[in-house]
Amino acid sequence: MDRIRIRGGNCLNGTIAISGAKNAALPLMIASLLTEETLTLDNLPRLADVAMLKRILGNHGVDCMVHGKRAGQNGMHGETIDLTAGAIVDTTAPYEMVSKMRASFWVIAPLIARMHQARVSLPGGCAIGTRPVDLLIDALKALGADIDIDSGYVVARAPKGLTGARIAFPKISVGATHVAVMAAALARGETVIENAAREPEIVDLALCLTGMGARIAGAGTATIHIDGVESLGGARHRVMADRIETGTYAIAATMAGGEVFLEGASPATLGTPLSVLNKVGAEITATNSGIRVRRNGNGLAAVDVTTEPFPGFPTDLQAQLMALVSRANGTSHIRETIFENRFMHVQELARLGADIHLDGQVATVTGVDRLKGAEVMATDLRASVSLVIAGLAAEGETVVNRVYHLDRGFERIEEKLRGCGAAIERLTT
Ligand code: UD1
Repeated sequence: MDRIRIRGGNCLNGTIAISGAKNAALPLMIASLLTEETLTLDNLPRLADVAMLKRILGNHGVDCMVHGKRAGQNGMHGETIDLTAGAIVDTTAPYEMVSKMRASFWVIAPLIARMHQARVSLPGGCAIGTRPVDLLIDALKALGADIDIDSGYVVARAPKGLTGARIAFPKISVGATHVAVMAAALARGETVIENAAREPEIVDLALCLTGMGARIAGAGTATIHIDGVESLGGARHRVMADRIETGTYAIAATMAGGEVFLEGASPATLGTPLSVLNKVGAEITATNSGIRVRRNGNGLAAVDVTTEPFPGFPTDLQAQLMALVSRANGTSHIRETIFENRFMHVQELARLGADIHLDGQVATVTGVDRLKGAEVMATDLRASVSLVIAGLAAEGETVVNRVYHLDRGFERIEEKLRGCGAAIERLTT
């Protein structure tokens, strides 16, 4: 099993190319099930989750064709793929697949909308809390689907197709909003989604669907209006830049010191995290082509942060921020409001010398003068990258085990960091 070894203490200087967003790529790929024509996606990140979703979609009959490399195109550019769901051969998404990647549950939306039936395994437990799917199911019920739970599967039927409706979510959910938008795109009549998630990935999905012929207004606000259409066609869409990857490298540069240009990053999707980093002590400059992050000499300041749905501070950057402020002058408070069990990195950061006290959903982080390298264990995607960030500033050697968590969501992280001067390598023995 791969491990990553980091020798801490180097500053980061250079340019990091930001990849396409995993959390946009997944729903965009799933949207290909809505049409029999070809959906071409550019800037797809090379990630284990994307590869897994290709296999899952293949199971439903989607033909995935990766474009060959063109002259001048190197491995740092994302992939371009054609996804063609000419005929859907199977409307069942089995447990073996959905249990490996939670977001694949979302195939239920295009399957019920286009095929009028779907049988999708419940995703099962997840390392960061219970993560139910009740809101997704309620959205489909509102659109007229009959839903049964049978032997761990959600069985959805709508023999006459879905019908537009008002969906008022009691709680903001990214997944439920993706599902509602995809399903409503092919429902008869008008749908209004209230208390919708406003994440930029929802906007990216809506843009792509609009290119495919959907009629959607208000994506990126709390109220989305959708006029259902009879069928959708093919389109070509570029996956947005990954705001979580961007925020992660911005935090890494703030931790290590130096100056890093995050090429292709989109500042508009990172307002809150960038202002938090600014308070901690980074100098941030947004340009037309990316974001420059700099910290020279000055220490890190403590901050109080609460995770919230967009545009608030993202839960997906919480672990990374915690690693950063473990070296700050003073005491920080980090409150997690999205997932109840997303503090598994705390134990591992403590192994490196961080002083963190957990009380319910609040972590109190008392900054320490130094972290010391140790062997640590990655527990989930974002937690594992927080250990890499801590390792960049720790004295001596840090070895992160279970790197497969990182590979689900960070494209060639060790290459990108090494390119800026970090002493980091992958151990494959
Ligand atoms: C997505 C992101 C994930 C991110 C999260 C929150 C993808 C592939 N994943 O996950 O990286 O951390 O948004 O920004 O895009 N909930 C319910 N019932 C439901 C659905 C959700 O109670 O039916 C709860 C969840 O337990 C959680 C909250 O709603 O407490 C938000 O979850 P949600 O926004 O749905 O997260 P995901 O879409 O799974």
